[in-house]
Amino acid sequence: MQDDYTRDAELYDIVYADYDEDIAFYVEEARQAAGPCLELGCGTGRILIPSAQAGATMVGLDASPSMLHRARQKVAALPPEVQARITLVQGDMRAFDLQQQFALITIPFRAFLHLLQVSDQIVALHTIRRHLHPDGRLILNFFDPSLEYIVAHSGPIGGALHTTGESFVDPRSGHLLIEWATVHYQRELQRIEQSFIYDEVDAQGRVVGRLYRQLRLRYIFRWEFEHLLARCGFEVAALYGSFDRRPYLQAGSELIWVARPSRNAAPA
Ligand SMILES: C[S@@+](CC[C@H](N)C(=O)[O-])C[C@H]1O[C@@H](n2cnc3c(N)ncnc32)[C@H](O)[C@@H]1O
Repeated sequence: MQDDYTRDAELYDIVYADYDEDIAFYVEEARQAAGPCLELGCGTGRILIPSAQAGATMVGLDASPSMLHRARQKVAALPPEVQARITLVQGDMRAFDLQQQFALITIPFRAFLHLLQVSDQIVALHTIRRHLHPDGRLILNFFDPSLEYIVAHSGPIGGALHTTGESFVDPRSGHLLIEWATVHYQRELQRIEQSFIYDEVDAQGRVVGRLYRQLRLRYIFRWEFEHLLARCGFEVAALYGSFDRRPYLQAGSELIWVARPSRNAAPA
């Protein structure tokens, strides 16, 4: 399957090597869960591996063979007792059947936004509902879309190629990767298409290569998701605006949802 992550799962780990603000939150949720946990869109194991290291039993599902390949390489280097707590499965969060119910299902780091159609979101939530224990929790996060930001970054100027100010060291070569990006908003579809270019610069300052990465997302507004959850048999147990569990009070922060199967809705 060709997807946004097929090209370079190693690049993903380089770019997000220092991104850790969500890890402690998800690890704690997995550690406290009263049974096995399922992470949808588990990627290269950035959250799944520390969760298993903390004692949680984790199933990770991802659509991208290359992300899973990289996750498997990392899992293989773990102590056997941690490996024994990890199962990795290739699959699509819209259509999987694991023949099991979980105490916790998570979709960290905005992976739900990869579902580009409302029909995809609905079928995924119904599939999740079937895999969730009646007392279980669904936890996921995505950014709170800012209308001001979208307007400022729309159009030929706002979304044109620009440096993001970010750079990364590629441990494979020791070269510096300097990040450039374009962003294109299709507001009527609530979609973002982002293209990233990484100029690979050697120790002498020469550009010796270029890497490319693409992301396509459908952003979701706060009340839209409340309705989507209700439509699919969930109710909101908590909505946080940051990973230190502060309630969501201010527009423009992260939306971190804790949902549970609603008591009065039959599973689909
Ligand atoms: C932003 S990454 C998050 C990876 C990991 N959870 C983390 O926090 O680092 C999104 C992941 O979702 C996966 N993904 C995208 N669409 C998917 C789908 N329909 N079903 C399963 N996984 C999907 C991608 O392959 C990618 O690994």
